[in-house]
Amino acid sequence: MTVKMLLPLLLLLLTLLTGVCPRRPREVNVKAGEMVALQCPHHRGYNHGDAKPTWTSYTTQLTDLNANTSSVERSRMGVLLHGRSLVILSVSVNHQGNYSCSLGNASRQFWFRLTVYTTQTGEYEERNTYSAICYREDSCTLNCPDVNVPAGNIPNITSNPIIWHKDGESLPKADYFPSVEETDQGVYTCTRSYLYHGQTYNMTFTVVLDVQQKKKTEKSAVIISPHMNDVFHVDLGSTVAIPCKAVLSSYFDEVFWLSGDSFVERNVSFPVFYNYTIEYDTEEIKMTATLVLKKVSEEDLSKKYTCKLDTDNEPSSSVTITLAKKASLFSLHMALGAVAITVVIVATAVVYVKLKMDIALLLRDTLACYRSTLDGKSYDAFLMCYKSDTDAGLNEDDRKWLECALEETFGYSLCLYDRDVLPGKAVAEAVLDCVEQSRTVVLVPTSPDPDPGSGLLNHIHAALVERQTRLVFIKTETTEASRSGSLPEALQLLGLAGDCVTWKGVRSMPPSSSFWKQLRYHLPAPQRAPKISLLPQTAAQ
Ligand SMILES: *[C@@H]1O[C@H](CO)[C@@H](O)[C@H](O)[C@H]1NC(C)=O
Ligand SMILES: *[C@@H]1O[C@H](CO)[C@@H](O)[C@H](O)[C@H]1NC(C)=O
Ligand SMILES: *[C@@H]1O[C@H](CO)[C@@H](O)[C@H](O)[C@H]1NC(C)=O
Ligand SMILES: *[C@@H]1O[C@H](CO)[C@@H](O)[C@H](O)[C@H]1NC(C)=O
Ligand SMILES: *[C@@H]1O[C@H](CO)[C@@H](O)[C@H](O)[C@H]1NC(C)=O
Ligand SMILES: *[C@@H]1O[C@H](CO)[C@@H](O)[C@H](O)[C@H]1NC(C)=O
Repeated sequence: MTVKMLLPLLLLLLTLLTGVCPRRPREVNVKAGEMVALQCPHHRGYNHGDAKPTWTSYTTQLTDLNANTSSVERSRMGVLLHGRSLVILSVSVNHQGNYSCSLGNASRQFWFRLTVYTTQTGEYEERNTYSAICYREDSCTLNCPDVNVPAGNIPNITSNPIIWHKDGESLPKADYFPSVEETDQGVYTCTRSYLYHGQTYNMTFTVVLDVQQKKKTEKSAVIISPHMNDVFHVDLGSTVAIPCKAVLSSYFDEVFWLSGDSFVERNVSFPVFYNYTIEYDTEEIKMTATLVLKKVSEEDLSKKYTCKLDTDNEPSSSVTITLAKKASLFSLHMALGAVAITVVIVATAVVYVKLKMDIALLLRDTLACYRSTLDGKSYDAFLMCYKSDTDAGLNEDDRKWLECALEETFGYSLCLYDRDVLPGKAVAEAVLDCVEQSRTVVLVPTSPDPDPGSGLLNHIHAALVERQTRLVFIKTETTEASRSGSLPEALQLLGLAGDCVTWKGVRSMPPSSSFWKQLRYHLPAPQRAPKISLLPQTAAQ
């Protein structure tokens, strides 16, 4: 690990100290009888112009190829020099050895090590064999390697077309398969041949073709995000960056942005531009093109922005998005608050309407806040009978029970005609006295016409209305239906002026019934505490 990290540093140090790049010689492996060309490479960073390289060979046969050998002699040795190339027309074992070339400066040399093979050894096969992969039913082209082949046009050398052979077949093969099959798999040999002064010189390469199953799935290029017609909520004046992510099918695919119909530039000095990143691994190529609006304006909100994916293999795809002003946090909170308050108010109102009687009675019972007698009245209520139009009204017993319940169970003090009205007065006067002394007048429907009778009611109803006496009008269930007409007009008016409570016969008798609840609600709080506990858990007893 550490050695690996230090190695480049050591090499750099060595280079600085010696001024020479310690290069490994380039390995060149040739079969005896074949042609080979060595290219003297350019040194990076130097302009050599048309300078001819100086070649030196370190072999048994050749020494200085430039100074001491004439071109005739070189030609006799089968060696050609042209441009940056050294061409050996037909390699023999005598050519084996090291070669160096330098362009201009002798201190900068480039080395080759030429190895000549006289027999088809495994080592040669290994070094001279190239592999190609094609996919079943795809088209396939074989490429003949071009390592150490003569570069450029060398005078008097003409290159012939490359000839392909398949191992074990005598006839030449084409290098192109429109639809390759497994049977095409195998070892191929390509021969590059060159004509020089009537003689043909050859270079052969071995290519092993492997035909594989088609790649599993051709990855198709697609925009992953954003989605079509997405709306991006932005603040006016802010910087907005909208990434468009796509998977590409090849490096030639491209992702870019359009504003309306015009291209968005990549120049960052523009108010609207895009930039991109490309990530790739063995699986896929991902490209993200980010649209950047430096300062969002009102005008930008009305435009359509399109992220477009152009591919060679498929029709291009695109995604169009728009911008919209972000609802401000403040107004959002306001709206939420208003909704919450409304909900609370409505809920409270509903609860109150539903339960106002229970709440009022519960408070009255639990807090035991009984009315003081400061208003100067002696009684809580005066029960006054009126003739019920049906026999659903209270009979004599019911009336007695009602009086008893009001006084004994609930603690009201009542003014009763037959008990509390002083005898000797005129009936109407006596009744009005009683009314005067009471906080409420309860009108009770009775079935047989009672004393003093509804005739009296007709006489005093004007007085009741005049004095604005508090009235509780007990009606029967049938009163409702037959209200208009059957009841005397006076009674109807009193009914409208007072609070109504419906008597439902036996069902109204338990102290927990809605009849009692309503009646107690409309009556003022009694002056005395009730004789029984009226708290909910005991009310049913
Ligand atoms: C070629 O160079 C290598 C070192 O790179 C050396 O070992 C070898 O002996 C040389 N061969 C000849 C023929 O000079
Ligand atoms: C190249 O050679 C010249 C002399 O011919 C010398 O002055 C110069 O320093 C050499 N340059 C390098 C990079 O070796
Ligand atoms: C090419 O061949 C012709 C005649 O065969 C000869 O005169 C000429 O010098 C050759 N050119 C080179 C560059 O070898
Ligand atoms: C090159 O190959 C051709 C045909 O394949 C043959 O006629 C010719 O003799 C070969 N040349 C050498 C130098 O082996
Ligand atoms: C970007 O735009 C600015 C201003 O229009 C211009 O000066 C600059 O040359 C542009 N840069 C490129 C790389 O196009
Ligand atoms: C693209 O531009 C934005 C805004 O200038 C910047 O924040 C972001 O880093 C850039 N991305 C790339 C990949 O250059």
